[in-house]
Amino acid sequence: MTYQARDYNNLIGMEGLSETLLKNHFTLYQGYVNNTNKLNDLLSSKAKDATNPEYAELKRRFGFEFNGMRLHEYYFENLGDKAPLDKSGTLAKKLAEAFGSYEAWEQDFKATGAMRGIGWAILYQDNVTGQLFNQWINEHEVGHLAGCKPILVMDVFEHAFMTDYGLKRADYIASFFKNINWQVMEKRLG
Ligand SMILES: [Fe+2]
Repeated sequence: MTYQARDYNNLIGMEGLSETLLKNHFTLYQGYVNNTNKLNDLLSSKAKDATNPEYAELKRRFGFEFNGMRLHEYYFENLGDKAPLDKSGTLAKKLAEAFGSYEAWEQDFKATGAMRGIGWAILYQDNVTGQLFNQWINEHEVGHLAGCKPILVMDVFEHAFMTDYGLKRADYIASFFKNINWQVMEKRLG
C-alpha cells in the first residue's frame, strides 16, 4: 500500500519560521515518504536471502527512511499553536513530577536539542511506567526508547533552521517553543 504524505501547509505563517524554510522542509518530508514506499516495495519483491548484501542493506535502511517520515509528522503536528501551556493541566503536572518543575524540563529539553550532531530531541512517555524522558536521537533511527510514546518531537537537523538562523540553533529552539501546540502534546499523553 502506498502511503500518502500529509499536508502541513497550515503551518505557513508561524512566527520565526519562514515560508521558504517550511516549504523546503515539507519537500524533504515528502522525500522520506517516497523512499519509505519505495523501500517497502523493493523489500517485498526481493528474495528473502540474508546472504544477499542488497537485501540486507535495504532492510537496514528501512528504519532511517520510516523514522525520517514519521518523526517529521510528529514534529509538524506538535507545532502551529499560539495558546500557552495550561500550567494546571495534566502535562504541566507530569513534567513537574518528572523533572522537578516545568522550567527544569524546558531547560533539559532545550539542552538535549542543542547537543552537537544531527538528529532530534524527543520527550518520551514510557508506556510501562508512564515516566517522561528527554532523549537525543541520532539521525532518525539511533537512540529510540523501546515501547515509549513521543510526546514532543523537535527536529534539530540543520535543514530545520539554517535558512532562517544560520548556525544559531538556540534561537531556532526558542522559536520552536513559541509555536508548540501544547494541546496536541496533552492528547498524546497516556
Ligand atoms: Fe527535518
